[in-house]
Amino acid sequence: MRMYDIIEKKRNGNELTEEEIRFFVDGYTKGDIPDYQVSALLMAIYFQDMSEQERAQLTQAMVDSGDKIDLTDISGIKVDKHSTGGVGDTTTLVLAPLVASVGVPVAKMSGRGLGHTGGTIDKLESVPGFHTEISNQEFIDLVNKNKVSVIGQTGNLTPADKKLYSLRDVTATVNSIPLIASSIMSKKIASGADAIVLDVKTGAGAFMKDLEDAKELAKAMVSIGKQVGRNTMAVISDMSQPLGFAIGNSLEVKEAIETLQGKGPKDLTELCLVLGSQMVLLANQASTIEEAREKLEESLANGQAFEHFKTFLSSQGGDPSVIDDTELLPKAAKQIQVKAKQTGTIESIVADNIGTAAMMLGAGRATKESEIDLSAGILLHKKVGDKVQEGEPILTLHTNQQEVNSVIDLIHKSILISDNAVAAPTLIYDTIT
Ligand code: URA
Ligand code: CA
Repeated sequence: MRMYDIIEKKRNGNELTEEEIRFFVDGYTKGDIPDYQVSALLMAIYFQDMSEQERAQLTQAMVDSGDKIDLTDISGIKVDKHSTGGVGDTTTLVLAPLVASVGVPVAKMSGRGLGHTGGTIDKLESVPGFHTEISNQEFIDLVNKNKVSVIGQTGNLTPADKKLYSLRDVTATVNSIPLIASSIMSKKIASGADAIVLDVKTGAGAFMKDLEDAKELAKAMVSIGKQVGRNTMAVISDMSQPLGFAIGNSLEVKEAIETLQGKGPKDLTELCLVLGSQMVLLANQASTIEEAREKLEESLANGQAFEHFKTFLSSQGGDPSVIDDTELLPKAAKQIQVKAKQTGTIESIVADNIGTAAMMLGAGRATKESEIDLSAGILLHKKVGDKVQEGEPILTLHTNQQEVNSVIDLIHKSILISDNAVAAPTLIYDTIT
């Protein structure tokens, strides 16, 4: 088999065979096929697309390129949730204990990563003592006992995706549905989940800004999941404005605790109930979506979900008194209110700019080496559709930095106030099964 022929075949718009897909994925991972040939193939895929079958075969080849997490020692159907990423997305912190509290096993491998705020692990480390450096056996035992545990990334998962993603980054081939869908799904499948709930975000703060693109990506991922034997569904949700009120690590932990106590923001609570119900259904812990939702609402109302969060954190070293008294979470030295310059209705809160502002305050990493300030971030007081008076606080900056004028400028540019009535945006656009 020759790489040249594979490039030519795809360039001409023909479907590749499974052998051809494996040949280039394995050859590239091992270093036998040079970057220039794979670059040409990626560009051919970008223009010629891939069939549903090719996408699934590419995904499986990437899964098989490295280690796979074996969760078979955990009883029950393991359901993972994946979000395509957004600003102030506190859902994982709420969903993990919430669905676990009604019997769904959550075996979560998570990371830190770059972004507006830290990853799930950084956020949880706002709770003093909490750690994710546990052995695989401890991880499995904890999920069997408490139905929930989070472990830091271990093993060499999907090395093919790492190499291909880096190459796409420098060859203008990131933005391709078959390549994005296979990249995301390969990582989920290698992490061992039996079933997958996808939260595909759309809007200014999302990877897919456009609703139609988000739907297409969701359909592509659901199709891949089903073809490789993992029950998969997707929810398309809004990320035109940040989710909830909090953007920042300890601020989001506090928000998650309030949500688990049934006192959380409306949009965050609703999205968690929608995604959570789907997880409960896929895990066979309810026979209808209505029954699944009722179970979750009951767990929020009777304190079971909140207690489960405490059990989960204290089992991995976290100080449970912090969960009872969130005043003990890391707190920034300065709280600076940003006030409305005019009276009216909030028309937009551009999510990605607010995320950037939170990062500038210290909440996220700009490079792998940057230190995170767990206490830093932004707390919104208003959301799109809310009325505001001139001089009324729209949000509060939490920071330890001396100088925040450029952050305040960015915020004023990113929040539009209108004289007209504005409706709150749709939260859930679609469900793809
Ligand atoms: N996220 C991924 O993991 N892969 C992509 O290709 C795009 C976003
Ligand atoms: Ca939030």
